[in-house]
Amino acid sequence: MADQPNIPKTDTARDTHPDTDIPLNVLHIQPSPQPPQRPWYDLRSWSLRTKLIAATVCVAAIIGIIVGAVEGSKSRRYPDYFPLHYRLVDSYAGEGFFDRFHYFSDEDPTDGFVRYVNVSTARDLNLTYATARSAILRVDATTRNASSGRNSVRIESKETYDNGLFVFDILHTPYGCATWPALWLTDGYNWPFNGEIDVLEATNNGTDGNAVTLHTTPGCDMDVLRRHTGDAIYTTCDNSTNANAGCGVRGASLTYGKEMNDNGGGIYALELRDAGIRAWFFTRDSVPPDISNESHTPDPSTWGTALADFPNTSCDVPSHFKNQSIIANIDLCGEYAGNDEVYADQFGCPGECSKFVQYNPGNFTQAFWEFGAFKVYRA
Ligand SMILES: *[C@@H]1O[C@H](CO)[C@@H](O)[C@H](O)[C@H]1NC(C)=O
Ligand SMILES: *[C@@H]1O[C@H](CO)[C@@H](O)[C@H](O)[C@H]1NC(C)=O
Ligand SMILES: *[C@@H]1O[C@H](CO)[C@@H](O)[C@H](O)[C@H]1NC(C)=O
Ligand SMILES: *[C@@H]1O[C@H](CO)[C@@H](O)[C@H](O)[C@H]1NC(C)=O
Ligand SMILES: *[C@@H]1O[C@H](CO)[C@@H](O)[C@H](O)[C@H]1NC(C)=O
Ligand SMILES: *[C@@H]1O[C@H](CO)[C@@H](O)[C@H](O)[C@H]1NC(C)=O
Ligand SMILES: *[C@@H]1O[C@H](CO)[C@@H](O)[C@H](O)[C@H]1NC(C)=O
Ligand SMILES: *[C@@H]1O[C@H](CO)[C@@H](O)[C@H](O)[C@H]1NC(C)=O
Ligand SMILES: *[C@@H]1O[C@H](CO)[C@@H](O)[C@H](O)[C@H]1NC(C)=O
Repeated sequence: MADQPNIPKTDTARDTHPDTDIPLNVLHIQPSPQPPQRPWYDLRSWSLRTKLIAATVCVAAIIGIIVGAVEGSKSRRYPDYFPLHYRLVDSYAGEGFFDRFHYFSDEDPTDGFVRYVNVSTARDLNLTYATARSAILRVDATTRNASSGRNSVRIESKETYDNGLFVFDILHTPYGCATWPALWLTDGYNWPFNGEIDVLEATNNGTDGNAVTLHTTPGCDMDVLRRHTGDAIYTTCDNSTNANAGCGVRGASLTYGKEMNDNGGGIYALELRDAGIRAWFFTRDSVPPDISNESHTPDPSTWGTALADFPNTSCDVPSHFKNQSIIANIDLCGEYAGNDEVYADQFGCPGECSKFVQYNPGNFTQAFWEFGAFKVYRA
């Protein structure tokens, strides 16, 4: 091999870098000098725009957490319905039952096809009638052509109340097409400023159960924790919302109408206190002994879950409810019962409500209240 002539170097040998011997084709793909790469979480690598977006997201998240915590604690808030020691202050009972009421005989403020009679007419027509056992309040079921509205009664207690425990013993609730009966509390001279509490209210056939409902000025809401067995309807009590439907809680069908009457009636108890408003219903065979036994005083803390609960959480109860009279009435047609959606569509009652009232006395034989007694207790 030594005597071979000098031969030229191979291509490979010629193309190496003069200093490193690394092939040039490899060096050419080395990146040109650049700032060092930073991880995404290094804020120095973020553009101003990214920083602004990130700051906004952070602030929103913090606000969300704070609002969530406040709302969460609000939704868990619940008043302390501690036991109160009640004593009897008023009893509406016996032959003198109606003596403690005014007979409201103005035009019906709710636009019914009704004429509320005064005390002497009610006596003459026997539309109110009291015995030692019970008091009856009814719609005229004899006039054949009641062309300017059928006679009925609306009584309002002379006494007014800011709070208390009200026990209503009810033997018969009124029902039938066109009727709109209620047993309720309000200050009719300062409505809705002093509030309204409908303890019993139903319309027409009365087969949908009773609705316990509040009506107030703005600022009384029930979208909060509540403890009751009924079904809540609206949660804002403000009269100017939902066409003054109020905030109601509806009970099962046996809480009103024929079903309740056939069961011997029952007891409604309403507690109005600073902590809130609650209503209980007891069928005749489930009346607690502290109500049925005259020698006891009622203690709601022993009665279990109420039918309707309106806690003083998003509603300052003592400022929304004052100077309440007890009212019992039977309206006919009017804003609620006579509304086509209720009278015809919901209950399938015939023709036009006011014509039905005018010409069908025989259809008002069940349109009467019969009360055992009303008892009012104060703490
Ligand atoms: C009661 O109403 C009747 C019938 O409208 C009327 O004749 C009578 O004067 C009224 N009585 C009183 C005391 O207002
Ligand atoms: C009045 O009504 C009651 C109860 O329905 C009845 O017992 C009484 O006989 C009636 N009185 C008159 C005078 O019709
Ligand atoms: C009912 O009474 C009104 C008023 O008196 C009268 O105009 C109408 O014709 C009467 N209706 C019938 C069917 O008699
Ligand atoms: C609600 O009450 C206000 C008074 O606060 C009254 O002006 C308004 O007419 C009432 N609205 C309804 C629908 O009852
Ligand atoms: C009513 O309560 C009194 C006092 O606690 C008791 O002596 C009496 O037996 C009770 N009556 C009934 C019917 O339970
Ligand atoms: C009732 O609620 C109001 C605010 O809505 C509150 O100021 C008041 O302390 C509450 N009262 C009770 C007894 O819970
Ligand atoms: C309470 O209501 C009665 C009517 O039941 C009314 O005459 C009286 O003015 C009211 N009092 C207050 C302080 O609003
Ligand atoms: C309500 O009562 C009327 C008269 O009895 C009846 O025709 C109608 O079907 C009843 N409606 C319902 C929903 O039961
Ligand atoms: C009215 O009374 C009659 C006779 O009792 C009855 O047949 C009819 O179903 C009743 N109608 C309504 C709508 O209540």
